Amino acid sequence: MCGIVGYVGFREAYPILIKGLKRLEYRGYDSAGVALLDQESDLNIYKAKGKVADLELEASKHDINGNIGIAHTRWATHGEPNQVNAHPHTSESGNIALIHNGIIENYATIKAKLIKEGITFKSCTDTEVLVQLIEFLQKGHNLTLAEAVQQALKKVVGAYAIAVIEKGNPDTIVAARKSSPLVVGVGEGEFFVGSDASPIIEYTNKVIYLEDEEVAIISKKDGVRVVSLNNTEVRAEISELALSLDEIEKGGYPHFMLKEIFEQPKTLRNCMRGRVSKNHKNIVLSGVLDNIEKFKNARRIIIIACGTSWHAALIGEHLIENLCRVPVEVEYASEFRYRNPIIYKDDIVIALSQSGETADTLAALMLAKEAGAFIYGICNAVGSSIPRITDSGSYIHVGPEIGVASTKAFTGQVTVLTMLAMTLAKAKHSITQEDLTSLISELDTIPDKIQKILELNDQIADIAKIFTYAKNFIYLGRGYSYPVALEGALKLKEISYIHAEGYPAAEMKHGPIALIDQEMPIVVIATHNGMYEKLISNIQEIKSRHGKIIAIVSEGDETVKALADYCFEIPSTLECLDPVLSTIPLQLLSYHIAVCKGKDVDQPRNLAKSVTVE
Ligand code: G6P
Repeated sequence: MCGIVGYVGFREAYPILIKGLKRLEYRGYDSAGVALLDQESDLNIYKAKGKVADLELEASKHDINGNIGIAHTRWATHGEPNQVNAHPHTSESGNIALIHNGIIENYATIKAKLIKEGITFKSCTDTEVLVQLIEFLQKGHNLTLAEAVQQALKKVVGAYAIAVIEKGNPDTIVAARKSSPLVVGVGEGEFFVGSDASPIIEYTNKVIYLEDEEVAIISKKDGVRVVSLNNTEVRAEISELALSLDEIEKGGYPHFMLKEIFEQPKTLRNCMRGRVSKNHKNIVLSGVLDNIEKFKNARRIIIIACGTSWHAALIGEHLIENLCRVPVEVEYASEFRYRNPIIYKDDIVIALSQSGETADTLAALMLAKEAGAFIYGICNAVGSSIPRITDSGSYIHVGPEIGVASTKAFTGQVTVLTMLAMTLAKAKHSITQEDLTSLISELDTIPDKIQKILELNDQIADIAKIFTYAKNFIYLGRGYSYPVALEGALKLKEISYIHAEGYPAAEMKHGPIALIDQEMPIVVIATHNGMYEKLISNIQEIKSRHGKIIAIVSEGDETVKALADYCFEIPSTLECLDPVLSTIPLQLLSYHIAVCKGKDVDQPRNLAKSVTVE
């Protein structure tokens, strides 16, 4: 939700800010803006409705000089996406400019007070309240910019990552965060601010991750000082980024989504590296092993997540319950946090999140922590908020995911959950060593099997062309494949805007069957595992109503092939490992349908990759 970037140093700020915004565009892309302080200390602000490219068009007509600036790409919460509501927002005098990611929840009260004081507002945003408040306090109490920011932040309720600059102060950016991510990049005589490290990595690998309610005073001359809202000095730790530039570039692919789909053999090898023993006898998932007594004695495991991560969690539920015989509950974080859930001290609560920043997941996790449960994170973004508050956790190590529709993170999450279930099953002796060894051996073949499935790309692209007419799709699966059906449907609707529903195949009779006619495409995950025979009956039911069947089948299948209109054959594997394979053709199918329909697959409308507002 919204990307922020800032620069102060010896280079021209504008190109760095624009490049940074493009890297952060996955966070929101309905409007964008930039504020620059030039040599004369004039504050130049340019904004545009639409994408960063629209901002560039606008800014190219004006003075874009200056060695200090801040910029923003927006995902609207308060106020429609237009030029006036785009960030940066300015104070009444026009001296202070501010960018913000998050939501100021008590903005209405503060706004009313400021209006009473005679301040005029230009936009409908919650953010403008913050910049007006900063100036109001600065003027009223004769404060420096940093002091005014500290005082203002003490009065706001909500989430924020902000960067602020002021006229006449061409050396300093003041940045702060609470519940929204913010990274400060530390170079030689130059400094950066970003919602994540992607705008920074090209210039420096040294970063400071701000904690909640910390303020960074970033000065070209004096470096970075981190203080609390009460002005207590904080020892800022400088971390080194492991990220490389090619991880955040398209590398010859037309879209990040396609690059990320094709990366999966490699990303899953990275995910398993050092965790799968060479003799296939053991899995070393250190976060679990370090806390094995807690895991062994857990009354229950609750997995909280949103979106695609929630689908991965459903597969985790099958895996853990089947292999470990521990009860698992899967919860939407947004529902869990508001329904006064029962949490026991001997529960393990796992937060599953690609970004590690999803506001609802973070809040649900805090709730579990307060209730005394052991909290565990499974995340991708290293150093993000969830891994920093959990008792322990495991990274999925699939590298930055930039396409808004999640692909490689999903398969990484399922793989980590598989390894977690195996680790716990071994410790609880709920699996024999023989079964464990064959499971681990099979897990080790998954990257190669995915490589083989990727060879279906052209065939899937051809079939995708046939279905651009569709207004609706149904996805069906049973057992382990039911969450895959949900994920397949979500992928399609996210990027092609075709309405799609995932259903447990047997539930079809209780409603969706009424939708089936010769126009309706139905994707069935019908691999040889689990309830294959029963699925064939479901396929027969569709066939007799003339639905168009697209089936994912195991190599060599003849029965479903004879019934389906189109088939994608994938290598066989063990039932519990099937989801990671069967999801790949579904990712490709959604991708190609969206491309055929001319949609922006990496930045679908209204969506954002990192949902840092509830
Ligand atoms: C957004 C993204 C989804 C993602 C979900 C949860 O909706 O568009 O791709 O699955 O958030 O995000 P998380 O980072 O917590 O996995």
